[in-house]
Amino acid sequence: MSHDRDSFDVELLRTFYAAEGRYVSGEELAQKLGISRTAVWAHIAEFRKLGYVFESTPHVGYRLAESPDSLLGDDLMARSSCKFLGRPTVVYRQTSSTNDRVAELARQNAAEGLAVFAEKQTQGRGRMRRRWASQDRKGLWFSFLLRAGLPTRAASQLTIMTALAVVKALHEASGAELEIKWPNDIHFKGRKVAGILTEIEGDLDRIHYAVVGVGINVNHQPEDFPPELDAIATSLRIAADRPFHRPELAVKVLARIEEHYEALRNGAFAELLSEWAQWDRLIGRQISVRTGERVVSGQATHVDEDGALVLRLDSGVSERVTSGDVTVTRID
Ligand code: BTN
Repeated sequence: MSHDRDSFDVELLRTFYAAEGRYVSGEELAQKLGISRTAVWAHIAEFRKLGYVFESTPHVGYRLAESPDSLLGDDLMARSSCKFLGRPTVVYRQTSSTNDRVAELARQNAAEGLAVFAEKQTQGRGRMRRRWASQDRKGLWFSFLLRAGLPTRAASQLTIMTALAVVKALHEASGAELEIKWPNDIHFKGRKVAGILTEIEGDLDRIHYAVVGVGINVNHQPEDFPPELDAIATSLRIAADRPFHRPELAVKVLARIEEHYEALRNGAFAELLSEWAQWDRLIGRQISVRTGERVVSGQATHVDEDGALVLRLDSGVSERVTSGDVTVTRID
């Protein structure tokens, strides 16, 4: 696939990824990019400095033998098959919170699909104003901009479709037995691997834009977590007992999110919800949900069409909760 506004570097890397480790001639690259062979060589030299391993054979060309486990905007765009999500992708070496960067760009009229990644966040945040530990080069910390035009009451749909996309992509990549804990946690054996934070700008009726932030603990070893997270956090690496190449994983996750978002926009949220039920670890269980000062207890029955969790109370009455902290009170 070719995209009009892509830079030489995106096009160059895309050609190598499409070649899947085979040789590409300097001539072919020069023609494709509309630059000289010397210029091709200069671009490749720049990539080598970033940790890419290119092998070159005289009269044959170059092959990409290895790419670094670093997040780079051009690299992510070159790998991605997405139509609009992550176009463009901006990567910060370090920033306060990728949600803030996307919100800033949204206010400057950035287009739907913009994604911001950071190797490290200094003020990563989770739901309920909690801190989100975002260790340098260990995870995937990113946010993207949606201009869904959804009714404000349906904001949770965005969290739900993203959580479902993330759990499926992580499961496909790792084989790990992951679960979703409504509304936004991805767990492995009761410990958190990933979380989603959706922040919206809108009025009572409509969402003007939404910033969806995703945090995935990818390559952490147990000692990489701060002591207070010891018992509650884990990583994909711990779950699958092997490290992951984060750029490869990132584009798999983005592809799933784009697919789900399109389904949502095409009115297929109900289909996403029926898939959700397979991954949800709360359905059928006795739980308590703290929403503000109130605690609602009962059996979790399902997630409804707006993304709210529905509980059957002991009285037999059903109650929906739109946000809150869930505790499982009995595991049957
Ligand atoms: C939660 O589980 O409470 C949500 C965690 C969301 C963390 C991600 S990391 C990227 C983005 N930037 C943030 O500051 N938070 C989200």
